[in-house]
Amino acid sequence: AKKIKVEEDSSLPAAKPIKMSVTDADVVTLGTEGQKGTRVRVWGRVHTVRKQSQLVFVVLRASDKKLQCLFSGQLAKTYDILTLTPETCLEVFGEMRSVPSGQKAPDDRELIVDYYEISGKAPEGDDSFATRIPLDPKTGEVRSDDKEAFYDIRHLVLRTELASSLMRVRSATKKAFRQVYQELDIEEADPPALVQTQCEGGSTLFEFDYYGQKAYLTQSSQLYLETLLPSLGDCYCIEKSFRAEKSLTRRHLSEYLHVEAELDFIQFTDLLAHIEHIICRVIDILMAQPAIKSIIEKLHPEFKPPQRPFMRMKYAEAIDWLRDEGILTDEGKPHEFGDDIAEAAERRMTDKIGKPILLTHFPGPIKSFYMPPDAADPRVTESVDVLMPGVGEIVGGSMRIYDYEQIIAAYKRDGFTQKEIESYFWYTDQRKYGGSPHGGYGLGLERFIAWLCKQHTVRETTMYPRYMGRCKP
Ligand code: 4AD
Repeated sequence: AKKIKVEEDSSLPAAKPIKMSVTDADVVTLGTEGQKGTRVRVWGRVHTVRKQSQLVFVVLRASDKKLQCLFSGQLAKTYDILTLTPETCLEVFGEMRSVPSGQKAPDDRELIVDYYEISGKAPEGDDSFATRIPLDPKTGEVRSDDKEAFYDIRHLVLRTELASSLMRVRSATKKAFRQVYQELDIEEADPPALVQTQCEGGSTLFEFDYYGQKAYLTQSSQLYLETLLPSLGDCYCIEKSFRAEKSLTRRHLSEYLHVEAELDFIQFTDLLAHIEHIICRVIDILMAQPAIKSIIEKLHPEFKPPQRPFMRMKYAEAIDWLRDEGILTDEGKPHEFGDDIAEAAERRMTDKIGKPILLTHFPGPIKSFYMPPDAADPRVTESVDVLMPGVGEIVGGSMRIYDYEQIIAAYKRDGFTQKEIESYFWYTDQRKYGGSPHGGYGLGLERFIAWLCKQHTVRETTMYPRYMGRCKP
């Protein structure tokens, strides 16, 4: 972009470089009628431009901060300012002042511009930001007639208020999870993404050629975290998981951020209590941050931090509940014990109950091979899903089989070939060298944020959503 120069008045005091976020009175004095304010220089992008007779009011934006800038006199007549377009990036120089009483501006201050330098102009007309990203004048949100077209220009949509708020909550949420794990003395691990074994069924594996061998993008880091327990103790990871989901739904991505933890020497009830704690504590940490709290309150006005203990419901009770309510399977039949509870039925149940549910004790055949049977009822496993209103399942977890013979039987029951069983040698060895009662879970970060910020789809809660048919930008 061309740099456009206007003359800076060298008799003025040197401008103090500041970030827009700085509001401390000891760094920046706001001028008033009787007193001059600090002369500063500050970077931003044009958010809005408003012309009023001889004056041009420009609101600059830098991340979620805004600053009103006032161009007057000769500056307001320069070609650049007369044609200033939203998203143009510039550095403005001038005096910081309190806004005159009766007027409104972000942080009750404005910058009286005496000089500026443009680093990058944004186009006008058909190519202007406002034309490419039409915003609803009432809500300020992207008008959503053609969602796919907006995912094509996700790099620009990310600059809008809703998307940037969600990215901010996402960043804060990751930090909060790390904080809670630290509070619990749980160590962070970095399992591999390129693997040769599956964790959650062959139908969603992304396969690729690895120097002539068959390999996959990881579906879950669980099996690897399990192998770290004897070495590191309780551990977690926040890593990408990949699923070749072959349908388009509100809550499935091909690439998502998976918060997973594995805990040693525990019983199933400990696992449930831990999951409840993690969710509640993360929410507490987020709600204690005014900027994050205000985003959540805006996007999800009726949000209330969940109360402990969460409702506990056994799978068998859920089947009865669905039958009593007349909620049918995807095939239009009443639910039977042994059926997978499909997304639609699960969401209807969760929405009707209206609070978090720990749904436990799923039958073995509809769950993964590593889940142990419940001693009291061997038809079912020590497994849990956390269901949230609006989204449904956000967490999947279980205890893990830790007996050698039992894991071999589980591979066979799941139809693994002998060659496949051999490829799990490293996982099997954990049972050979001192198996221990342990368990863990995985939480989908995009679903967690969709629940927290009341988003219709997880596609809005990730930076560049990947789903069937989309791998760009
Ligand atoms: O229930 P899942 O498949 O469980 C596992 O992968 C376990 N191995 C995790 C573990 O115990 N460490 O997935 C766990 C969570 C789901 O509850 C959901 O939140 C999320 O991962 N998830 C997805 N999120 C977005 N898109 C997808 N395609 C997802 N598949 C699972």
